[in-house]
Amino acid sequence: MGRVALVTGGSRGIGAAISTALKDAGYTVAANYAGNDEKARAFHEETGIPVYKWDVSNYEACGTGIAQVESDLGPVDVLVNNAGITRDAMFHKMTPQQWQEVINTNLTGLFNMTHHVWSGMRERSFGRVVNISSINGQKGQMGQANYSAAKAGDLGFTKALAQEGAAKNITVNAICPGYIATEMVLAVPENVLKERILPQIPVGRLGQPEEVARCVVFLASDEAGFVTGSTLSANGGQLFV
Ligand code: CAA
Repeated sequence: MGRVALVTGGSRGIGAAISTALKDAGYTVAANYAGNDEKARAFHEETGIPVYKWDVSNYEACGTGIAQVESDLGPVDVLVNNAGITRDAMFHKMTPQQWQEVINTNLTGLFNMTHHVWSGMRERSFGRVVNISSINGQKGQMGQANYSAAKAGDLGFTKALAQEGAAKNITVNAICPGYIATEMVLAVPENVLKERILPQIPVGRLGQPEEVARCVVFLASDEAGFVTGSTLSANGGQLFV
């Protein structure tokens, strides 16, 4: 059995591609999901990857869920914090609930998950944490004050934790996908997507989930031990940082 990898939001969209790519690379993979039982069941049937339901915005639920994964598969060596939501609205229309839900899932979710695997990684002197941030955390995005704030926070979290993990052979990195062809992006109003977003992408197309997944496989590998605290952009040339 290969190393154990846990992917949050791992049964749909970019997360499903990450789970599958890690399995293909020899990892024993667990995919967490929050809500969509039907999609999770279909993903499990198609890939054989076990799925586990809990909400990453709930600290206790993360503890219970991770304990179950570790009892079934063994200690988590690789954590991919991929779960994320959008509640897009112009700031003057954004509600406190839209703000909180996105911060709780997309930022606090990283604390909730990573905190429960961190001690084990330190004890075993090995760990890989890969945080899926976003181009919109790097550049900010109108209609996404909540999401951009959370995703920028993910980058600060990554850089701080990378310093703490370094002496214990734990790397912590972030990936910033641009606009990838998933349900999340396809939920953007069609005119906004076609007239505003696509023209900003020099390669002239949305990215594919597998193109992000390949970045994760690299950062998760034993061979990537000298890469930590970094931000890997996969955005079709939309932003250079
Ligand atoms: N880029 C550029 N311009 C945008 C924009 C965007 N992403 N989103 C909205 N606008 C523009 C609109 O074209 C519109 O301009 P005009 O008045 O000149 O036509 C103006 O902003 C206001 O937009 P709406 O008329 O749509 O206003 P609304 O109040 O009805 O809706 C909104 C606002 C909810 C933000 C809606 O426009 C929207 O959902 N926009 C998309 C926001 C976005 O880019 N989200 C990213 C989702 S994908 C993701 O988050 C994954 C990732 O990590 C990249």
